[in-house]
Amino acid sequence: MMKLITFEGIEGVGKSTQIQMLNDHILKSGFTSSIIREPGSTPFGEDVRNLLLNSDHDISAEAELLLMFASRAELVQTSLQESHTDYILCDRFYDASIAYQGYGRGLDLDLINQLIINIKCPLPDLTILLDLEPHKGFERKAEDKMDRIESAGIDFFTRVRNGYLTQAKQNTKRIKVIDASQDITSISNEILLHFNSLP
Ligand code: TMP
Repeated sequence: MMKLITFEGIEGVGKSTQIQMLNDHILKSGFTSSIIREPGSTPFGEDVRNLLLNSDHDISAEAELLLMFASRAELVQTSLQESHTDYILCDRFYDASIAYQGYGRGLDLDLINQLIINIKCPLPDLTILLDLEPHKGFERKAEDKMDRIESAGIDFFTRVRNGYLTQAKQNTKRIKVIDASQDITSISNEILLHFNSLP
C-alpha cells in the first residue's frame, strides 16, 4: 500500500530541502518514492499554478480557492490514484487550503472541508508541519522575487501559521509540528523519527 506523506508550512520554512532529504533516505532504504507539489504536478495543474502564482490578475479569494481545488482534483484522480511507488511525498496538500484560503483569506471552513470530501482527497498517513514565525521565513526568502500569494503581507501569514497550528491541535495523530528554526540536520532527524513510527 502506497503511503502519502505531506509537508506543510508557510514560505521559507525549508520544505523542499526536507522533502529531498527524506526522499534520499527512502531510496537508500530500498523503497520507491515520488515527489509531487501543489498546486501543480499534472500538466493541467502546472498551468493552473502559473495562473495562480504568476498572473497579474487580482483574483477573488473564492476564485483562488476553486483554482487550488481544480488542480487538486486532477492530482487526486491521476498521480495519487495511479501511483506505483511505496511513498508519495507531497509539497503541500489540502491542509494548505484550510490554512491559506480558510484562515488566511477568511473563507468558510465548512465549504473547504466539503470540497476535500467531494473530490475524494486521500487522508495523508503523515503530515509534517514545519513551523516558523513569518518574519523568519521571509528573511530566508528575501533573495527571491515574491509571487502573488507571497506578496500578501505578514498579517496574512500570521493567520496562515495560526491556522496550521490549530489544525495540528485538532489532528495530533496525523500532523506533527516541528520547530523549523532549528538547523537542517535536527529537523531532518525529527522527521525521520516520525517517519520510522509509521505503521
Ligand atoms: P510554493 O509551492 O512555491 O510554496 O507556492 C505555492 C503557493 O500556493 C504558496 O504561497 C501556498 C499557496 N497555496 C494555497 O494558498 N493554497 C493551497 O491549497 C496550496 C496547495 C498552496
